[in-house]
Amino acid sequence: MPELAELADIGLDLRVQDSVATVTLNRPGRRNAMTPSLWLGLAEVGRALPEQVRIVVVRGAGPSFCAGIDLRLFTAEGVPGEDFRLDPADDGFDEILASWQAGFTWLRDPRFVSIAAVQGHALGAGFQLALACDLRVLADNAKLCMKEPALGLVPDLTGTKPLVEIVGLPRATELCLTARTVAAAEALELRLAEVVVPEAELEAAVGDLVAALLGTDPAAARATKALLAQARANTLEQQAAAERKAQRSLLAARQR
Ligand code: CAA
Repeated sequence: MPELAELADIGLDLRVQDSVATVTLNRPGRRNAMTPSLWLGLAEVGRALPEQVRIVVVRGAGPSFCAGIDLRLFTAEGVPGEDFRLDPADDGFDEILASWQAGFTWLRDPRFVSIAAVQGHALGAGFQLALACDLRVLADNAKLCMKEPALGLVPDLTGTKPLVEIVGLPRATELCLTARTVAAAEALELRLAEVVVPEAELEAAVGDLVAALLGTDPAAARATKALLAQARANTLEQQAAAERKAQRSLLAARQR
């Protein structure tokens, strides 16, 4: 596991209790604005999670889930200790960006179900982090915005695929190209939230969901998540074959 003190230095807090890991973005004074070090740290957390973890809760400390990238990175002063050179002429451009994206993609791992608990703002990279999770529980004061195009950037932290898959291409186009803010009630309508609850009940609502998810068989839950994840790309025949294969492995593992 990554050293907790090192995680704290980059604004992350990780708690693992039995089969539940809670990852907290922990720079509330900056509304949990993110840096490249934090994205690399998230990827490290994903790599190091113990095998018993079945649920990953991603939350933000303070009034906002996450205000997106730390905007000081775009200034001449930058952020102390952060190396934020993204030169399109650099041979390493792709590799650097991929290493940042890895801070988001691990949340889709079939080993566990990831839940974003979102209060207040989830902007830009923060919205993409919520989209990287399997499920989203929103407080009624949540505000989601894909702000990148307004800043002259594309959303590049793996958020475009889940956004299109959840809300459909026309709505995703409208949301990204206007960079407008979606409030919690609309997010629920657009299925960007599984549930919306009063802010004071966010933690309890996430706890209830975690308890319900832990109620199913761990091996079956993992295999089912893996199956569901490939359903969209598969034909019916391919998916039926995948179901047979998954069932066989599950039953065989149980016989051992
Ligand atoms: N980067 C750096 N600092 C930030 C920040 C950010 N993204 N968001 C907030 N902060 C800082 C503020 O500068 C402020 O610092 P001081 O106390 O030193 O003045 C502190 O956090 C609190 O901020 P506010 O007083 O503004 O808090 P608020 O609750 O009134 O408003 C907010 C919250 C709506 C998130 C507002 O702070 C805001 O609009 N922040 C900027 C959001 C933004 O544009 N993010 C970029 C998204 S695009 C992206 O993420 C691109 C990408 O991936 C490459």
